[in-house]
Formats: sequence, structure tokens, C-alpha cells
Amino acid sequence: MQTLQVALGERSYPIHIGSGVLSNHELFFPHIRQKKVVVVSNTTVAPLYLDLLRSTLEKAGISVLPVILPDGEQYKTWETLNLIFDALLGNHCERSTTLIALGGGVIGDMGGFAAACYQRGMPFIQVPTTLLSLVDSSVGGKTAINHPLGKNMIGAFYQPKLVMADISTLATLPERELKAGLAEVIKYGLIRDPEFFVWLENNLDKLLGRDEEALIYAVHRSCANKAEVVAADERETGERALLNLGHTFGHAIETGLGYGEWLHGEAVAAGTLIAAELSCSLGWLSREALLRVETIFVQAGLPVRGAPLGAARYLELMRHDKKVQDGKMRLVLLRDIGKAVVSDEASEAQMAEAIDARCT
Ligand code: NAD
Ligand code: GLY
Repeated sequence: MQTLQVALGERSYPIHIGSGVLSNHELFFPHIRQKKVVVVSNTTVAPLYLDLLRSTLEKAGISVLPVILPDGEQYKTWETLNLIFDALLGNHCERSTTLIALGGGVIGDMGGFAAACYQRGMPFIQVPTTLLSLVDSSVGGKTAINHPLGKNMIGAFYQPKLVMADISTLATLPERELKAGLAEVIKYGLIRDPEFFVWLENNLDKLLGRDEEALIYAVHRSCANKAEVVAADERETGERALLNLGHTFGHAIETGLGYGEWLHGEAVAAGTLIAAELSCSLGWLSREALLRVETIFVQAGLPVRGAPLGAARYLELMRHDKKVQDGKMRLVLLRDIGKAVVSDEASEAQMAEAIDARCT
């Protein structure tokens, strides 16, 4: 097992990474204050991992109250969030009761948001079970639900007390979901870690083949990158925005097509290619680098072209992006592989051109 720390002063927390960490009750014990915890999961993940988590916690004398939600991005809503509050109130959960989110990014984001709101904040623990949530969403404290007008628009920054990153859960993850998670892994190479990008170019097949050592390396390196960024800029006033490479275009795809149609990682992959295309047309990214970006996403089995919504619709949806400032759209663009910037320099006409080039 390897442990990373997210350094946020008194709100710092560990990320335990390894195969089988979920069986180790001693890792949970110091972070749980009551003899009862709430585990928020969904109808797919609970049958796979709830019993394991329950038996681990029982070894520490802790009982589990499960809250099982419907599965899917389309359920990341107020209505579903309320099911969590119903269960918390109905079972007399207290402010010091711990909420454990067991699942992918949807469960992590909703469980975290519920924890942030319930009695103005209860402790919570992330137990990510998808590649995407292992490398990204479980770390850093962004929690949210979707709104019909925009993705992740209602939420809070609320840090977990602990992240238990058990790689062995990936054994049951569907192929398409594994590939979607790779989009966020590749992102770290592109925005700030060029050596990792080269490692990924050489080892993507191992990750696709679920080689345990390669997965642990990729999860560890991704989380190390994320932990550094979050420690430096928890509330996204600067560097953290770079973690949104491809997301402005990607969120437009997800919202435009209806949540759940494309997976988040798929939309991010296509969005990253649109951002790279735009970076190239601005003269910032070389054609060779653009080709390397395209090649690695193709190798990962991810889309390199966006949904054909039309540039006008993309731009309309992108105006709801959280990076918009004073009505001006800001995008994460690439100067090179391993070097991203946030910029408002691209005009809407240039954005439309890149969208048209990548989305028809
Ligand atoms: P997801 O949570 O929908 O999980 C994908 C699918 O895999 C679901 O059907 C789920 O039930 C299933 N699943 C989960 N673990 C499994 C396992 N071990 N075995 C078999 N099936 C399993 O999707 P995701 O890709 O994990 O997360 C996407 C969400 O994360 C989006 O809503 C996105 O906005 C959010 N996100 C948040 C952040 C953040 O910083 N908070 C970062 C990136 C993405
Ligand atoms: N996934 C983007 C962030 O955590 O900031």
C-alpha cells in the first residue's frame, strides 16, 4: 500500500492506494467517530462491494446503514440527493455520523454534497470504485449535482476525511468505463506532467489489460498530481482550473445530448481534442503534438471527435461554464504536451472553427 497526503492544513487527509485496502479496518478506524456509518452507494456497486465494506467495518465494531441510489449520471439530481437526506433524517443520523461514498464519481459527488449540507457538514469518506473516481473525483473536495442547464452547477467544496483507493475494485469495471477513466489519467500528463504522458504512451496497453502494477502506478501518479494542485489552489482561483482541460467542451456534449448519453470521460476526451485543435489553430501547439494527443486517445479507445451538436449550440452551452468571468469565456488550452494555460484569448469565431473541425 502507498499513502499520499492532500496537504490542506487541519483539513489534510490521506489517500491510501493499493490492492485490497478495503479489507483493512485499521485504515478506516481513526477517521470514524461513531459506531454507525452511512454508506451511500448504487444498485450496481452495492451488490459488488457493500458486503466487503460492511465486514471490514464490523471488524472495527462499526455497523452500516446502507443508502442505495439508482445508478446513472441522469440521477445526479436534487430528487436523488433528497433520498440521502430522507435516509439520514429518518435514521436519526447526527452531525458526527460519517457518510461513506462507495462508488464512482456520481456517487462520490452526490454523497459528498449531501455530507456538506447535512446539518451543515458531516464527516465523509470517499471509496472510489471506477478508474475515473480513483484518479480524480474522489480527491479534492468538489461535490455537486447537475442542473438541466449545466453540469455540476449546484455543489460545494467539501473535503473528505479519507480516500480509500482500492485498485482491486477495477476487476469488475466494464471496459467502456475503464477507457473513460483513462481520459482523466491522460489529462494529468497533458496539463503538467510530460514524463507521465510519455509513460502513458508506452504503457497504455498494460492499463487497458488491467495490469495491477501499471494501474497502481497510474493511480498513484494521477493522485499525486491532483493532490499537489488541490493543495496549491483548493478553491480554483488559479492553477486548479487547469484540471478542467477538455471539460468546457465536454460538459457541452454531456448537457447537450442529455446526461448519461456519453460517459463523462468520453466527453472529456473529445473536448480535449477540440481544445488541442484550437490551441493548434492559435499557433500555440504544434501539429506533431496535436497528433500525439490524438494518437493516445485513439489508443485508449476514446472518441477524438465531438458530438455533432453544431457550433452555435456548443457555444450556448459553454456560456454556463464555471470558468466564465465577466461574461467572457475562458478555456484551458495547450502550449505544449505537459503545459496548459487558462486563456480568454480565443474568440468565439475561433472556438466555433475548432468545434466545426472536430465535430462534424
Ligand atoms: P459513474 O459514477 O457513473 O460510474 C460509472 C459506472 O460504473 C456506473 O454504472 C457505476 O455504477 C459503475 N461502477 C462503479 N464502480 C464499479 C465497479 N467497481 N465495478 C462495476 N461497475 C462499477 O461514473 P464515473 O466515471 O466514475 O464518474 C463520473 C462522474 O464524476 C461525473 O458525474 C463527473 O461530473 C464526476 N466528476 C467529478 C469530479 C470531481 O472532482 N468531483 C472529477 C471528475 C468527474
Ligand atoms: N476534476 C476537476 C477538479 O477537481 O478540479
